[in-house]
Parts: sequence; C-alpha cells; structure tokens
Amino acid sequence: MAAANWKMNLTVTEGLVLVKEIKAGLPSPLDCDVVIAPPFTHLVPVMDIAGNSGIQVGAQNCFHEKSGAFTGEVSISMLAEMGARYVIVGHSERRQIFGETDALVRTKVNMILEAGLIPIFCCGESLEIRTSGKHTGFVQSQLLEGLFHLPAELFSKVIIAYEPIWAIGTGVTATPEQAQEMHAFIRQAIVEHYGHDVGDYSRILYGGSIKAENARMLFSQRDVDGGLVGGASLQGPGFLAIIAAACG
Ligand code: PGA
Repeated sequence: MAAANWKMNLTVTEGLVLVKEIKAGLPSPLDCDVVIAPPFTHLVPVMDIAGNSGIQVGAQNCFHEKSGAFTGEVSISMLAEMGARYVIVGHSERRQIFGETDALVRTKVNMILEAGLIPIFCCGESLEIRTSGKHTGFVQSQLLEGLFHLPAELFSKVIIAYEPIWAIGTGVTATPEQAQEMHAFIRQAIVEHYGHDVGDYSRILYGGSIKAENARMLFSQRDVDGGLVGGASLQGPGFLAIIAAACG
C-alpha cells in the first residue's frame, strides 16, 4: 500500500495536475492500494479525476463530534458522503500542533469505523524518547490507548502507520532495521492482544522521509506493508516510484 499525505500543500489546480500524472503512470494492473489524502477542499475534484483508476481518496482529519456548533470543522458523515474511504488519525502534527491526546484519537478512531471508513492510525516516538530507549513502550501505549479497546472485528479494518517524529519531514529516514524492529514489535503487540488471526494480517505502514531512493529497502522488510508518504508524494515521478516499490 502507498498512501500520500499531501498535508497543507498544493492548490486544487496543482493537485489535479499531480493526480493526472499519477493516474497516467500507475502500474497496470494495479494490484495494491494507492491512496491520496489531499486537503478537504480537494477531495471531490481529486475523486473525479481519479475516476476508476484505482486511486482511492482519504481525508487527513475529521472532527470528534458528529455535528453542531464547531465553526471550521468537518464531520465524519460529511467525509463519508463525499466518498472518502480513509481518514488519517493521530498524526504527530495533529498531536503536537493541535494538542490531540490519545483519548481524542480514540474517539476519532471509533467515529471513523462507525461511519464505515478506514482509519490510518499514526503512532511514533520523538527523538528524545528514542534516545532514552523508551520508544517501544511509548508506541505500545499509543496502541493501547488509541486502538486496543476495539473488538477484533473492527480492529482488523485499521491500518497502522509507524511514523517516528524525528523522521517526518526531516530527510532523516529510519534505517530499514529500525523500521523493521518497530514494525515487528507492533505486530507482536497485536498478536498478543488479538491473536495471529488478526496480527498476521494487520497492515503496518512506515512513514517518515520516504523517497524513491529508500522506498524499496524499507518496503522489503518483513513487517513493513507499505508507506505513508508526505513530501515525496507531492511530485509525480517520485511518488510513482514509491508506488512501484510498494506494489511490486
Ligand atoms: P514525510 O511525511 O514523508 O514528509 O516525512 C510523512 C508523514 O508525515 O506522513
């Protein structure tokens, strides 16, 4: 799976040029999931251009209440009606810049699943936590707080994205060994909680400075099932190379 997180980049016009480029360069047949998560304002036009190419569309966020006096917010039912299939939740930028807590992330996960959409649940530690050697415990607590309350049937719909904060937008990528170590840890935590029937099939993406040059090595790791890509998803050729690495 290759998922693009455009963050707050590209106008609609620029975004549609990019989607057309990606659509034209997709592997054929496309036998893995390709997701684009543009800003809210781009969802419908991106979906229109994506058509039946196989490109799926997701949102980068949703609000944690169903409706009401929440000026400027977008609800999950609005996103579902638009045709979004995925929602990124728990991204470190939302946790850090917007103060989203594990409890809030859990509420959003529940809402996304209840609406029939698929959460892309982000987790990952800061450099400080990694340096102190507490990174696995930290990620485990994010999983416990945000996801492990779910019954197995719902949990199995969730996609996890391990995104070490020190690797996001920094140009510093986790080494394939570091990524594999954490992904194996996450899978083991899932197995311990839900059993092999769920854990063996859970999709765990890596995110953090993925580029065309490092994608293949990262994705070839046993427990890395693809990537959530920020900066490198904003350029057609680079993202197409990442798609090729994820889907190959
Ligand atoms: P990056 O962002 O690829 O620019 O590091 C990844 C993400 O934040 O999802």
